[in-house]
Amino acid sequence: MKIQIADLAFEPLIKAEAIEKRVKAIGQQLNADYQHCVPVFVGVLNGSFLFIADLIKQINIPCEITFTKLASYYGGTTSSLKIRDDIDFSVDIKGREVVIIEDIVDTGNTAHYLIDKLKVKQPTSIKLCSLLLKPAAVQKPLEELKYTGFEIENEFVVGYGLDYKEMGRNLKDIYKRVK
Ligand code: IMP
Repeated sequence: MKIQIADLAFEPLIKAEAIEKRVKAIGQQLNADYQHCVPVFVGVLNGSFLFIADLIKQINIPCEITFTKLASYYGGTTSSLKIRDDIDFSVDIKGREVVIIEDIVDTGNTAHYLIDKLKVKQPTSIKLCSLLLKPAAVQKPLEELKYTGFEIENEFVVGYGLDYKEMGRNLKDIYKRVK
């Protein structure tokens, strides 16, 4: 069923049941990959708040979770390439294994920005876990990207945390823009 958000129409792309299944599988993979340590999960607000909440409930090994807030879309449907950095977290990640949790990798600029910023703090490792990936939009290789929920076309999406003009974050399913 089509929905309208502000001036744009959207149609279903990924149903809540499929998201739930995929999030469980990623959680299991993280449990296996990080059982040797106490990883630090860094959630990137706002868009990943539902993904972080659902994913973290699947984690059954000791872990820490902290947040940062970055924005690059400013209410439009294309990346502005300029990143606004709103929260600098205080957890000391020196010598720790870090997993960044993102809603979506589009150009990859936000991820590169955050990875470069965290590397300075000398963690043992940094991996990226993104619910969505737009492979055709990625501008430079992102070797830290180890966990991906779904690869999607280069199209604008909303729902499950992702917004258009700050709306649509509450939707259970993910929708794509109707062209
Ligand atoms: P990147 O820096 O171009 O990879 O963009 C990353 C950020 O832009 C994400 O964390 C989202 O907040 C936002 N973004 C990218 N694509 C979409 C989309 O299709 N819908 C909503 N937000 C998006």
